[in-house]
Amino acid sequence: MNDVAAELTNSRIIAAYRERTGGSAELAKEAIELFPSGITHDARNVDPYGVFIARAQGPHKWDVDGNRYIDYFGGHGALLLGHHHPIVTAAVREALDEGTQFGASHPREIQWAHAIQRLVPSAERIRFTSSGTEATLMAVRLARAFTGRQTLMRFKGHFHGWHDQMASGYTNHFDGSPTPGVLPGVAEKSILLNPGDVAAVREAFAINPDIAGVIYEPTGSSFGQVPLDAAFAQELRRLCTQYGALLMFDEVVTGFRATRGGAQMAFGVRPDLLTFAKIVAGGLPGACVAGRKDILDLLDFQVAERTGREKISHPGTFNANPVSAAAGTAALTVIAETNASDDASATAASLREKLNAVLAQERVPWAVYGTYSGFHLFVNPSGLDVGPHNFEPTKIPLEDMKNQPKTLINKLRLAMLINGVDLNPRGGGLLSCTHTATDVADTTAAFHEAIRMLKQEGELAS
Ligand SMILES: Cc1ncc(COP(=O)(O)O)c(C=O)c1O
Repeated sequence: MNDVAAELTNSRIIAAYRERTGGSAELAKEAIELFPSGITHDARNVDPYGVFIARAQGPHKWDVDGNRYIDYFGGHGALLLGHHHPIVTAAVREALDEGTQFGASHPREIQWAHAIQRLVPSAERIRFTSSGTEATLMAVRLARAFTGRQTLMRFKGHFHGWHDQMASGYTNHFDGSPTPGVLPGVAEKSILLNPGDVAAVREAFAINPDIAGVIYEPTGSSFGQVPLDAAFAQELRRLCTQYGALLMFDEVVTGFRATRGGAQMAFGVRPDLLTFAKIVAGGLPGACVAGRKDILDLLDFQVAERTGREKISHPGTFNANPVSAAAGTAALTVIAETNASDDASATAASLREKLNAVLAQERVPWAVYGTYSGFHLFVNPSGLDVGPHNFEPTKIPLEDMKNQPKTLINKLRLAMLINGVDLNPRGGGLLSCTHTATDVADTTAAFHEAIRMLKQEGELAS
């Protein structure tokens, strides 16, 4: 039994959760014999077990026991249009009927690329991959090959997938030391800075002529859990240009969500390279690296031949998979032709306000904050003198912003599940354009009840 499980043994929250989720408990027993921790993605780790989902529609999903949840996990952020969007599903069905893997170029990849370019004009060239991890891996390789330099600048807490270049500094190893299995030589080629620390960025550029590029999540780590603004993006742009390094926006989450053109359109900053995943493939596996033609030319056979410069090799069995292409094209077309991104942002603003009202009413010194279609929960681990109505995330130390007591957040998640709401592992979430005022009201009521349950459990002062 791990620490969290031990803590939960006498919990009424856990008892109520077990009571409602017998079918999930049975599947969890089977899963533990098949998968490490019984799960298939680190973020799906819930103590004592997560719910197993049977189906989903719009903003809702139902578990194998028939319980309905308002979903704020949103397919890890992929579902700006909600689950099972009729236009996306129809496009997928049509593509499926034509075949799933041609091992050849096909018309749908052209349509998909046009749909991206329509929203993101700086995507002069595009290379599809299967995941965001692959997209950032390629972005970094392109930056190094293009500049002839080796060092990568990153920011603490920013996530860019799980490949070796990105393993330190997301949840741990903030000193840049290698995580298990990563070669020290790879890890030491990253400079890890505090997010938003312009002076540190300037100094790093001034003393290190080997910086190939900067990659970061433009609105801040985890969609602005530790927020960053347009001014920071503009300064990075200026410094990258001055020092001949490439600016890479990891828009895997912000893409098509912050605005329909992503964070770069919100900030008015043109990065050299962009990475997209999640929404770009309409809820199916798929991603891409995009950006300046002269950089993506490093993947081009003819340019390599003409210039004598060695081409970067890039196979990938499922690159531009036709079914993902159909889903992505359909989703991006809906996003281009409706107010999906803005609608989701407006509903999220209303949710943030209502959850803060609950905190104020219950005199809980936490805060709900966020931008665009996201919300984050600050649970005030050091007891700072802040609360729901005087919380300024940029004034809070990084350690407090990122430090989320495991047991408390786990219990909050379980209490919310009992009350019909699925939050993300940080106690926040992402909205889709299908979340309604009723979902907001139901979520607010669920949050109120969850806070009462946490108080009864002694997790929160009454
Ligand atoms: C900002 C960011 N970049 C990259 C990734 C990795 O994407 P994938 O999970 O598709 O490999 C993620 C995944 O959550 C992400 O949030």
